[in-house]
Amino acid sequence: MSDGKNAIKLNYDTGWEYAAAPESTDHININDRYELFIDGKFTAPKSGAYFDTINPANEKTLASVAQASKADVNRAVKAARGAYDNVWSKMKAAERGKYIYRIARIIQERAREFAVIESMDGGKPIREARDVDIPLAAAHFFYYAGWADKLDYAFPQKTPKPLGVAGQIIPWNFPLLMAAWKIAPALACGNTVVLKPAETTPLTALKLAEVIQAADLPPGVVNIITGDGSTGAAIVDHDDIDKVAFTGSTDVGRIIQRALAGTDKKYTLELGGKAANIIFEDAPIDQAVEGIVNAIFFNQGHVCCAGSRLLVQESVAKEVITKLKERMQTLVVGDPLDKNTDIGAINSAAQLERINDYLALGQKEGAEMYQAGGKTPKKGYWCQPTLFTDVAQSHRVVREEIFGPVLAIQTFRTLDEAVSKANNTQYGLSGGVWTDKGAKIFKVGQNIRAGVIWANTFNKFDPTSPFGGYKESGVGREGGLHGLSAYVNLH
Ligand code: NAI
Ligand code: MG
Repeated sequence: MSDGKNAIKLNYDTGWEYAAAPESTDHININDRYELFIDGKFTAPKSGAYFDTINPANEKTLASVAQASKADVNRAVKAARGAYDNVWSKMKAAERGKYIYRIARIIQERAREFAVIESMDGGKPIREARDVDIPLAAAHFFYYAGWADKLDYAFPQKTPKPLGVAGQIIPWNFPLLMAAWKIAPALACGNTVVLKPAETTPLTALKLAEVIQAADLPPGVVNIITGDGSTGAAIVDHDDIDKVAFTGSTDVGRIIQRALAGTDKKYTLELGGKAANIIFEDAPIDQAVEGIVNAIFFNQGHVCCAGSRLLVQESVAKEVITKLKERMQTLVVGDPLDKNTDIGAINSAAQLERINDYLALGQKEGAEMYQAGGKTPKKGYWCQPTLFTDVAQSHRVVREEIFGPVLAIQTFRTLDEAVSKANNTQYGLSGGVWTDKGAKIFKVGQNIRAGVIWANTFNKFDPTSPFGGYKESGVGREGGLHGLSAYVNLH
């Protein structure tokens, strides 16, 4: 802990240095072993198999978690079906709402514990887990709790009915938040769920199972089972699932879509992205530089809607790139639990390898690479923030999702050129525009084929706002009213 007096000091070689300010882990309870949460109880997996989840910042094992097999998926779906038929779909909507409010409030009460575990299990900076992930997760439960008894107003002239049992599969970049995105609207509409967190970040979902017990939800309404891709596939393929909600890679999204073709299961898919962040010459440049940092270095670039392509108007390109490089030198890469840290650990060894392959590839393709240098801890998985300039549209670092703190920079002369470059991608999840002129914001916003366009900001989320992709970025919308409609049949 810093004593305040020496919290910041000037080092004449390296610039300003902050004294360490690590978040304490004394109050954190992590079991050595976690079972599957089925029918309101923690229960051992039929196979007896377990796998470890580690802390990617020091490679230490945090806990061993159960590997759910097909037999366990069967048990979970059966519990969800029983709870749906006998309790949840019959309950008065206002009562359902009360349970969801209760979950929201308990998450708020335990926010600090959730934030620390999220940071330890996934590598994200505590500042983000504390200020973004956990408050937004609670906000989603609050928001959808409010809709539970107002569905007739959400869908006027219609009779919304729940779908049944939802199978939900989530990734490792926003573990608790993704669980909230999936569970809250499903419950509000009267569905029951089987949720599977990602293998590298299961702990906050298992803590959420404890919250669900504490909130006294009827057994089987929410089932949380851990496992790898084979567990996910068994959920997707299960005959008694009515709806699949998936967030993750476009490759797995394709596998799921193929598996569901010809069935009457509904599905929503939130997949990859390669968003363009467009900076016009009339933009407030210093704010735009902060916006670029937020768009791509936030959460180590492990963000499907990250602004991983920068399109900057030629007349200000030199200024923007110089300022961006200066800013990158001040970004702190290191201990995720330190409150000064800007860029935490890469989520896994596999993800770091994928990013490093792209760094090598970008250079081989002829791009100019810039990294801000700086030291990183010996243990753990780290990647310095990285820029690629001198890139062509055909380069793979411009076309493919890297999912790391890696930015490809291109220039443009006119608005039309910026829009056509931004749209020259297989993806369409998000985009950004920075300018002083409202007319340019509207023109760019209307012409970019992506689900969300931020203007003079980036990576802002709110439960009332729908989110989802065009093209290979996915199918359907989550969030807001749109997010409700993915969990009801309308007659
Ligand atoms: P992934 O798509 O394999 O994992 C996401 C989730 O899907 C996990 O819970 C996983 O267990 C599950 N899963 C894997 N195979 C499955 C299958 N056949 N059926 C059902 N569920 C399955 O992502 P992965 O391998 O962790 O990351 C690979 C790349 O995917 C990343 O480098 C990144 O580019 C992208 N990605 C994109 C995300 C996004 O939010 N758009 C999130 C995570 C990864
Ligand atoms: Mg982990």
